[in-house]
Amino acid sequence: ENGATFVVVANRLPVDRIVDENGAVDWKTAPGGLVTALEPVMRQRGGAWVGWHGAPDEEVESFEHDGYTIEPVPLTAEEVEEYYEGFSNATLWPLYHDSVAYPEYHREWFDAYKRVNRRFAEKAAQVAGEGATVWVQDYQLQLVPSMLRELRPDLNIGFFLHIPFPPMELFDQLPWRREILEGLLGADLVGFQVPGGASNFLRLVRRRTDHRVDRDRAKLIGENQHTCIARAYPISIDTQGFSDLANSPEAIAEAEQLLSDLGNPSTVFVGIDRLDYTKGLRQRIRAMGELFAEGTLDPHDAVFLQVATPSRERVEEYRRLRDDIDLLVGRINSEVGGVGRPAIVYLHASFPRATMAAMYRIADVMIVTPLRDGMNLVAKEYVACHPGPDGALVLSEFAGAARELRQAYMVNPYDLNGMKEAVMKAATDTPQNKRRRMRALKKQVSENNIDKWAERFLNDLDAKGETAPEEG
Ligand code: G6P
Repeated sequence: ENGATFVVVANRLPVDRIVDENGAVDWKTAPGGLVTALEPVMRQRGGAWVGWHGAPDEEVESFEHDGYTIEPVPLTAEEVEEYYEGFSNATLWPLYHDSVAYPEYHREWFDAYKRVNRRFAEKAAQVAGEGATVWVQDYQLQLVPSMLRELRPDLNIGFFLHIPFPPMELFDQLPWRREILEGLLGADLVGFQVPGGASNFLRLVRRRTDHRVDRDRAKLIGENQHTCIARAYPISIDTQGFSDLANSPEAIAEAEQLLSDLGNPSTVFVGIDRLDYTKGLRQRIRAMGELFAEGTLDPHDAVFLQVATPSRERVEEYRRLRDDIDLLVGRINSEVGGVGRPAIVYLHASFPRATMAAMYRIADVMIVTPLRDGMNLVAKEYVACHPGPDGALVLSEFAGAARELRQAYMVNPYDLNGMKEAVMKAATDTPQNKRRRMRALKKQVSENNIDKWAERFLNDLDAKGETAPEEG
């Protein structure tokens, strides 16, 4: 056996293994933007996807799926607690998102993170063929590039961070900051969502490691002369795939059904997010609640549909958030609206992609208001799926997507009055204005699709930085 020539390594596999009470096994699409983005890349290129299958204490054999090989990495229940829920999602996740929740620092968590990163590196080393390209993904696996380079110096190693990379003032809190930086520097190319992430990284490498930084070409040179490049590659979606899905007869029928279930309101506002404290749900729901309570919006002809996909449910901050949102929505709905006419329809559930496409179809105003977000692919999915030029996107300036989707109605999610105004402007703007904005958004998202993103990154990785960096 020669091994794969292209390998993706991510904490998540594209599918989660679900075992019910009777022991029956099922596989379900995994949540989140990383899977949405990378799945079409793997389907097109083939190769191997190394990742965790989502079930603790279970060993699963590798198998073929959609034209590539799935290589499951097992985690014990304790590792799920310490590496996944702990270091990844209660230390790194809040720290990298501007500390909008307090990051916790525990030495045992970092030890588990190292152990699990080594397991991923070993698995990748085992499945990659001679001279293969290995593309490591996201904050859960930042030590893998250097571990893998040690095991397999022949490989071409890329790393992409899907979430923001924080400024030095925050990153410096991390007791293991140097180890994390050196872990990343094992890659030949490190990609970020926005140029600001790349420059935060360069500054930290210069100040906190012994690497030399060649500023012009964003090259980082180690003692052993290994060179790492750092640049921005804003991620995207399979734009055509989403648009086809939204225009399928099934999605059209489902959209009609949804509208009638909602009582055929004249204006539908929609939010779709993982239930995560970075998404600005508290602020968004409060703003929408005020619009209904003041009478600016009338629950007889407007509805706000908010979907929150369950996520990381055993992590304390996520439980607290769930309770807060339940309380907030309950309070608003009990004060405004009437029998069969809730102002806010709140669904704590995950839906198949076709249903999401139907929701994007019926959204007159899509509200995406994270406090901090690496990119936010929901914003791009909406633009791809909403038919015709009449929709409107309200977007937080703190999402990576705000750099590209400039024709959205921009908001600062901390400014509730500003957010209310932007939502109403989006709902009541002239058709000409809406169309002009929507056309520009659609153009952006169809020209910069996921294939372009993968090509740009992988071409640069092949060239090992011999191409000129783009202007950021
Ligand atoms: C974000 C992260 C991904 C992660 C996804 C879902 O998009 O960047 O790495 O997979 O959230 O979160 P989960 O913890 O369920 O994998």
